[in-house]
Amino acid sequence: MKGVILAGGKGTRLYPLTRLMNKHLLPVGKYPMVCYGIDRLRRGGITDILLVISKQSAGQYTDFLGSGAEFGVSLTYKIQEEAGGIAEALELAEGFILPGERFVVLLGDNLFMDDLGAYMEKYQEQPQGTAKVLLKPVEDARRYGVPVFDSEDASLIAYIEEKPEQPKTKFCVTGIYMYDEAVFDIIRRIAPSRRGELEITDVNNIYAGERKLTYDVLKEWWSDAGTFQSLQEAGEKLKNTLP
Ligand code: DAU
Repeated sequence: MKGVILAGGKGTRLYPLTRLMNKHLLPVGKYPMVCYGIDRLRRGGITDILLVISKQSAGQYTDFLGSGAEFGVSLTYKIQEEAGGIAEALELAEGFILPGERFVVLLGDNLFMDDLGAYMEKYQEQPQGTAKVLLKPVEDARRYGVPVFDSEDASLIAYIEEKPEQPKTKFCVTGIYMYDEAVFDIIRRIAPSRRGELEITDVNNIYAGERKLTYDVLKEWWSDAGTFQSLQEAGEKLKNTLP
């Protein structure tokens, strides 16, 4: 399988820090945030990785990561010109993903300790054209995508509500997704949301509506380091996990 890390976007919740530096290059322990996603993919056996980045920070990424060789991976870079949404960033992976290939997508601010290998193996057994998302129980699900489960088939998600005021379950849909090339046709079927972005939840809801969206639940620590508090906690938690 291949890997795609989405590290575009504006990072406005981390202003003023992100006026100086892209969110995914901010320090978490001894390394920039993006290195932890690269490490998780590599440990799962994925070494061919596409990084989607914003044009303002492209030079900093290549300065630090180069070809990826130092980190045991091969990196390809694509530029997302404007922050047009997670699904728009994902669309840039078309061409990098060849027909018949499957891939893992990580949102660049998602930090976690689970080994991805077992989840990838389960996804490999799913039929072509289906998708999988990874979930995590959280205390306050209102700032995430929240899944509602299929009442007849417990292995499926019926639909996802994005940032609901009254979440129907205690789970959040993390930024860890698995797809094959069918996702690019699905992205072409969605329209920009009210905030003008192509939303990943709209993509996943097409799979869910066609009963093609499975899930697994992460067992270990997970966080999206999108706020100052979660960024600090992530630094503490992960400071000794990379050499
Ligand atoms: O972290 C999990 C959550 O991530 C999910 O539960 C939500 O369903 C999903 O929509 C997403 O919500 P956020 O509000 O946290 O997404 P955010 O806009 O913060 O973007 C997350 C990452 O996606 C960001 O670190 C970089 C990447 N991104 C985002 C945008 C908007 C891009 O690469 N390009 C973009 O245009």
